[in-house]
Amino acid sequence: MKIGVIGLGTVGFGAVEILTQQKERLEKQIGEEVIVKYGCSLDEVTLPEEIIYTQDFHDVINDEEIDVVVELIGGTTIAKTIILEALKKGKHVVTANKALIAHDGQEIFETASQHNAKIYYEAAVGGGIPVVVPAKEDLIANEIEKIEGILNGTTNFILTLMETDNLDFDEALTIADGLGFVEADASLDLDGIDAAHKIQILAMNAFEMFFDFNKIQATGIRNVTKKDMDYAKKLGYRIKLIAQAKKLDKGYGIDVSPTLIGIKDIVANVNQAYNVVEITCNYLENVIFYGKGAGRYVTASAVVSDIIKTHKQDMWKHDYQYEECIYPITYSKYYVRCDHPLDIDYETYFSQDKDHIYITNKIELDELQKQLQNETYNLFKVRG
Ligand code: HSE
Repeated sequence: MKIGVIGLGTVGFGAVEILTQQKERLEKQIGEEVIVKYGCSLDEVTLPEEIIYTQDFHDVINDEEIDVVVELIGGTTIAKTIILEALKKGKHVVTANKALIAHDGQEIFETASQHNAKIYYEAAVGGGIPVVVPAKEDLIANEIEKIEGILNGTTNFILTLMETDNLDFDEALTIADGLGFVEADASLDLDGIDAAHKIQILAMNAFEMFFDFNKIQATGIRNVTKKDMDYAKKLGYRIKLIAQAKKLDKGYGIDVSPTLIGIKDIVANVNQAYNVVEITCNYLENVIFYGKGAGRYVTASAVVSDIIKTHKQDMWKHDYQYEECIYPITYSKYYVRCDHPLDIDYETYFSQDKDHIYITNKIELDELQKQLQNETYNLFKVRG
């Protein structure tokens, strides 16, 4: 497999790094060499010497040896040209370009199918969290009724800061911006447009319909004030920017808007820059996908998985090697209740009645058990 990566920003570099670090394992997966032949970017960058650097994307898409073009420049202009031209040459395309798929998905998919090429875009929604393929494939037995979630990490980070650090919107925005979270065009994040791109893509895959992006109403978080958050809290709610898509009696409802969610709901407890997607369907009922929705390796993880999928024919071959060495996992923190004080490193300790109770630091179980000889005790693993 020969790959050309067009766009060497945060995610593009991350993808090149993962492909280099995981080369041997990935090659085993597809039974052929995985070679990054080109890195294309307008900015001068330093690449490993075996990768050809170019500023002209035509070098990549006109090279007959290239079978996968990775588009990571974003936007809906040059990126669209690159993707369409690559597909027309029968090259597979992997992209993280949510705006382009949301606006021009139909044309891109038609071009791909006319030229027998594949287009993958798992990285466009939820960073590295697998949500596009589950919505499209893994729940196929079900009729999907509803998808909702927090699909924009930046606004979730801002809302979290407003609540936990008692900041107003502008103060929280300044911090998010300082950390590099906010898109160059801040309106994409703050006005709910980025989340709208993503819910459109999920809805398209879940409901197998094209939806006109321009008809999706998006309201962002600019009007969410600290005062509203406090009132919501008093009422037992938290305010989150929720993207939603569901079947209606007639047509579909798709929108993005700040929404009060009961404080005990899992979605209300997704904080910082994390994303969550909850899918409601008729047999599985509810399933939730949670994780980091942005970041170099986080998003590059989905990009590289998609690259490999373009060449992995049969995911279900099961030709694994046999492994005989299986052990219990014994290096852990432990909860211990015993009759006497112990000579161990611990995180927490108290005694009550005749019991001595510990949360230990991480320790091998046999080491801990040596201490417990001749004792009556109870112990469980502690996660963390
Ligand atoms: N601006 C986006 C977000 C980046 O905050 O979620 C990842 O798509």
